[in-house]
Amino acid sequence: MDAKALYLDLLAKSLTNTLFVNEPDSDQESQAQFVKSFIEHYISGSAITMLPMARIENLRNCIINTIERSVPGDLIETGVWRGGATIFMRAILKAYEVSDKIVWVADSFEGLPEPDAELNPIEHKAYSGPVMTKVYKHFAVGLEEVKRNFAAYGLLDDQVRFLKGWFKDTLPNAPIKSLSVIRLDGDFYESTLDSLNNLYPKLSRGGYVIIDDYGEESWTECKRAVEEFRSKHAVKDELFKVDSNCYYWQRA
Ligand SMILES: C[S@@+](CC[C@H](N)C(=O)[O-])C[C@H]1O[C@@H](n2cnc3c(N)ncnc32)[C@H](O)[C@@H]1O
Repeated sequence: MDAKALYLDLLAKSLTNTLFVNEPDSDQESQAQFVKSFIEHYISGSAITMLPMARIENLRNCIINTIERSVPGDLIETGVWRGGATIFMRAILKAYEVSDKIVWVADSFEGLPEPDAELNPIEHKAYSGPVMTKVYKHFAVGLEEVKRNFAAYGLLDDQVRFLKGWFKDTLPNAPIKSLSVIRLDGDFYESTLDSLNNLYPKLSRGGYVIIDDYGEESWTECKRAVEEFRSKHAVKDELFKVDSNCYYWQRA
């Protein structure tokens, strides 16, 4: 194995906090046990991303594939929490000595927006529940903490740009020319649709769009947003499964 691969493997384990312990496994644990493990490992633990390793590997493959095929455009994640997936994006560019792509880090840095109770009742209920409010704290992590995390890994530089605010406000005027990988992890219907509407037109042919919460139907309506978008814009590209929640497609 070459040094690049070793570096990215080690980084992935560090960012997911799986060097010495296993990640929580939603397929192996009961729902109650999984929530307990999730809180211990991610929320009160030191993981910098809550992505399972399968999704980190999917992100890595998509980015390396676009680099190797010279697909033009930057990388973006909308919804970053502690920043781990975007730190990994920057690390891949560094390892592959790519200096003409930017990593865009888009988040409110204040947590999830409150969904409309009438339009998105499932999400509103989840947003208002005790675990989301008191334990997850709507996944709010401040911009300075995310910048510190980038700096801790030696990856805070001018190839990283932060878009602070609600996606509906920041994405329409973001100075992004084109994109090769779009990773959507804003959980909710509106967050997903705002991201797709504003970013998909900038996705290069051969680029990827990854939807973290497509399969999660118990508390988000992300899937409906994706289906509406694909139907409205006649997107026929095949959706591939990463794991029970995460799906992606490649723009033909
Ligand atoms: C599940 S977390 C993201 C996890 C992250 N990708 C990781 O690697 O661990 C969801 C994030 O989306 C952000 N978010 C959701 N909807 C948003 C919106 N409409 N505008 C801005 N930020 C949003 C929240 O602040 C939160 O940081």
